Amino acid sequence: MRQIALIFSFVLLAACAETEGPKTPIDGRWYTEAQVERGRGLYLAHCAVCHAADGSATSDWRKPGPDGHYPPPPLNGSAHTWHHSLALLDDTIANGGEPFGGVMPGFAIVLDASERQAVIAWFQSLWPDEIYDRWLEIDSRDR
Ligand code: HEC
Repeated sequence: MRQIALIFSFVLLAACAETEGPKTPIDGRWYTEAQVERGRGLYLAHCAVCHAADGSATSDWRKPGPDGHYPPPPLNGSAHTWHHSLALLDDTIANGGEPFGGVMPGFAIVLDASERQAVIAWFQSLWPDEIYDRWLEIDSRDR
């Protein structure tokens, strides 16, 4: 009888794991594990060349280079990316930095809306909860 109970609880556990699969948002965050996974590959293919594979980019991101332009800032939560709402982050990735006098290329043709969301999910997954929560406040204010 105990064995049956044990087997039953394993089945139950497996069923729970199934429903909590990659489609469920990560605790307290707007995105899913599946989006993070998808975003990781897209990020490495399109963004890592400037922002570094781990999102750390340029530590001296506040200082313009010899051409007067700012270098790529870190996206890993250590710079000021968290000051921008989801809509603004998406806009920057879609249209690049040119509208703001920057040099980052736009990706609207290369990445569709869901791919851009996945990339954002990936770099936000690098943010500590404290930074993410501060971003959440800014994002809800801008809606
Ligand atoms: C050719 C280099 C280059 C590539 C490739 C690039 N970026 Fe950038 N990115 C920059 C630069 C430089 C800036 C600073 C603003 C500017 O000059 O446009 C920037 C700024 C940003 C910002 C604003 C950050 C902030 O803190 O304000 C985000 C978000 C961003 N990039 C995301 C991405 C993503 C996502 C990709 C890939 C889809 C990407 N970038 C690809 C160079 C690049």
